[in-house]
Amino acid sequence: MILETLVLEADEQSLSLAAALLREGKLVAFPTETVYGLGADATSVPAVLSIFRAKGRPADNPLIVHIYDRAQLDGLCTVPDEALPLMDAFWPGPLTILFEKLPAVPDEVTAGLPTVAVRMPSHPVAAAMLRACGLPIAAPSANSSGRPSPTLASHVFEDMKGKIPLVLDGGPCNVGLESTVLDLCHGKPTILRPGGITKEMLESVLGQEVALAGSILRPLKPDEKALSPGMRYRHYAPNATVTLVDGKEDAVLQKLKELFAAETALGKKTCVLCFSEHVGALEGCSPHDIGSMEHADDVARKLFSVLRQLDEEGMESVFSEVIPPEGVGLAVMNRLGRAAAFRILHAE
Ligand code: TXA
Ligand code: MG
Repeated sequence: MILETLVLEADEQSLSLAAALLREGKLVAFPTETVYGLGADATSVPAVLSIFRAKGRPADNPLIVHIYDRAQLDGLCTVPDEALPLMDAFWPGPLTILFEKLPAVPDEVTAGLPTVAVRMPSHPVAAAMLRACGLPIAAPSANSSGRPSPTLASHVFEDMKGKIPLVLDGGPCNVGLESTVLDLCHGKPTILRPGGITKEMLESVLGQEVALAGSILRPLKPDEKALSPGMRYRHYAPNATVTLVDGKEDAVLQKLKELFAAETALGKKTCVLCFSEHVGALEGCSPHDIGSMEHADDVARKLFSVLRQLDEEGMESVFSEVIPPEGVGLAVMNRLGRAAAFRILHAE
């Protein structure tokens, strides 16, 4: 069925339309501080199944449940004491926590797992929508499965046009990468997906070391179990072949120029992704600015938009600079690494 998809600026009227649609089991895309989400009533199996259909998402990849008030946790999951200081420090905000689920959460939400991922977004439009409908809302990122997550309402429209009735437009997302996913259910606290709430921030609140899932900066091994099912899938990837280049600054710039020239000579539509500081130096190489090398959060905010732009431009070969995988830089390198299938060249 093809639907007319409305894109409406978030205001009182569009929020009450969103709430009414959600209560009827329909899908609504909405802005959060991380990326746009594709929401449905988490307690309705048909509504949840329609999320998977709209995205073309594999059924074994579980969804995050969004709430606006901690009281909503009561029927959903059990909350260990360890989680309380984290919720005090980082909710509302870009931190998703795994909890043991209660039977009220359909298996379709958790892909049959005994845990449910929950987050309380800080974006005022997300909070207002959650409050207006009063439901826990299951929401993955509002992209078609495999495409970069949407950080603008227009990105959502590209992917979801004709498939959902409403996109609430709240402007660009401030964090730009998906939330940090933290597992407190399997021993040592472990980051399954890095995001805006960093390992260092979590450690300072928990007063203990936080582990990183093995596959954050490398591909999963064939026999390795994904702690987070989403890690198994090709993600964040533009159509182009992306290759990362690391090494000393001057060597990287030289290598980028050589690679650009070589691929262009082969007739491939080629560009480089580089820091704002290097746009001038890479002038002849179709430079695409990914933000300042001094500010990983700037790169986080821009990255998905740039990856989507590569598809629009029909790029075939893309070479990118890298940043140190520290702080928010870890989340950037996780997404960029996966966009590049972890192909990396070292410039000497
Ligand atoms: O910032 C975000 O988290 C955005 C906004 C919309 O809230 N949502 C988002 O959802 O990124 P999604 O579905 O694109 O990513 C959810 C990730 C997936 O990698 C999934 O495998 C993992 O969280 N996940 C969800 N439930 C899980 C569970 N019970 N155990 C392990 N991983 C889980
Ligand atoms: Mg996603």
